[in-house]
Amino acid sequence: MSLEVRLVIESNHAPLLLGIDIGTTGAKVLLVDARDANAIAHRTVEYPLHMPRPNWCEQDPHDWWRATVAAVRQVMESERIEPARIAGIGLSGQMHGLVALDAAGEVIRPAILWNDQRTAAECDIITQRLGEQRLIQLTGNIALTGFTAPKIVWMQHHEPEAHSRIASIMLPKDYIRYRMSGQRFTDVADASGTLLLDVANRAWSSEMLEALQVPHHWLPTVTESDVASTRLSAEAARQLGLLEGTPIAAGGGDQAAQAVGSGIVEEGTVCVTIGTSGVVFAPTAAYRPEPRGRLHAFCHAVPGMWHLMGVMLSAGGSLRWFRDLLGDEFNEHSCYLGKDPYDLLTEEASHVAPGADGLIFLPYLTGERTPHNDPNARGVFCGLSLHHRRPHLARAVLEGITFGLRDGLDLLVQAGVELREIRVSGGGARSAMWRQMFADVFNAPVTACESPHGAAMGAALLAGVAAGCFTNVPDASSLLRLHAQRTCPGPAAVAYPSILDRYRGLYPALAGRF
Ligand code: XUL
Repeated sequence: MSLEVRLVIESNHAPLLLGIDIGTTGAKVLLVDARDANAIAHRTVEYPLHMPRPNWCEQDPHDWWRATVAAVRQVMESERIEPARIAGIGLSGQMHGLVALDAAGEVIRPAILWNDQRTAAECDIITQRLGEQRLIQLTGNIALTGFTAPKIVWMQHHEPEAHSRIASIMLPKDYIRYRMSGQRFTDVADASGTLLLDVANRAWSSEMLEALQVPHHWLPTVTESDVASTRLSAEAARQLGLLEGTPIAAGGGDQAAQAVGSGIVEEGTVCVTIGTSGVVFAPTAAYRPEPRGRLHAFCHAVPGMWHLMGVMLSAGGSLRWFRDLLGDEFNEHSCYLGKDPYDLLTEEASHVAPGADGLIFLPYLTGERTPHNDPNARGVFCGLSLHHRRPHLARAVLEGITFGLRDGLDLLVQAGVELREIRVSGGGARSAMWRQMFADVFNAPVTACESPHGAAMGAALLAGVAAGCFTNVPDASSLLRLHAQRTCPGPAAVAYPSILDRYRGLYPALAGRF
């Protein structure tokens, strides 16, 4: 038998991992080779986002499950994979969402999501009960509208009948685990975003539970991210086309999993990611909450590590909004030119000078978290004139998002984080023009890392550790072949400090008006 033939046969038996990411727009399933962390195939099945009232964002957990089943089946069938080759499943997903189940395990109401802003009054109540300093010390965070605990209190106040039927609560990806296994588990990284975790001790906080009247038995068991929490049930295996008993790793919230899937597993490497949200993420070797709670301090998906994080609620979301606003005519125009609409927008913006001829955009379309914790903040174009055209608006939107990320990076520096390397990933990192803008606005070199599978890859690697394919999370991450591309600040960097100053002056001037 020739070497080539033998390799093909061996690779047909190599163990594989499934990484699943329950995102805001769809469920992504990624198939990964457990020998070298190579991505083999992926599928995303989308689901709707419901906004029944201003400030509300909800999804139907059944949609997540249907999309997961469809995406797993599509990946397995398209690649003709024998189910026995799946060594483990890892789960990741949008953080903070509240899934409430009754005693029969049925969903009580639509899940309230991370970007829902209805709970400002409940956040005030929580802060009064605990005191802001105690809250920060214990949970690493202030009470934020997107977090899970204020949503439970909201249900208690606004939907008492539904609240009285709660038998268990869980986070979005953990609902998928529940459907897969009938078991209730979560991981420390995702649990950190509930405001119910004692983040230093990586365990549920009885002080928080008592203060908010949340019975301990409502909560899932919490473990480290790389632990095999449970196994696939016979019924779920039948639906998914997988084998009963396949191990399921605890996994991680999308940001921690994204960091694992991009090799952000030690201090000094900071990650800037643009999805719908915009995130700055710095691993820390110790629990170091930001004294005023302006950054999140969460457990990392790497056992024994934590991370600091700033989250903009509408980063890529602002650009998507702008593209959608331009309507069919613009999309047809870009199609006619054979270009992706986002590529056309960044290309047009590249012909405009830094500062967009006096136009500034505040990207607070769905309220903001970092650096201004303000659910009422809203988007602004400031300085519009007859002279401005679409390319100016596009540039202002890109700059506004980048300025918001710079605000987050500055907070990390103030919190004592060393920025040895800034890695950019997500949609924005794919555009050379935007990468240059990052380097200019951050006034530091940035490295773009091709980790297109982010959180789903992280989930697969965590599954690999849980299944014994890799020794530990850093080892698993070290297998990633990231094609790094470095961009240094250019001539535009000198123009940005004064533009950034103008941008920073706008929010305080407008905050009382939103
Ligand atoms: C993290 C956060 C978002 C959501 C949605 O704190 O709110 O990243 O997890 O992706």
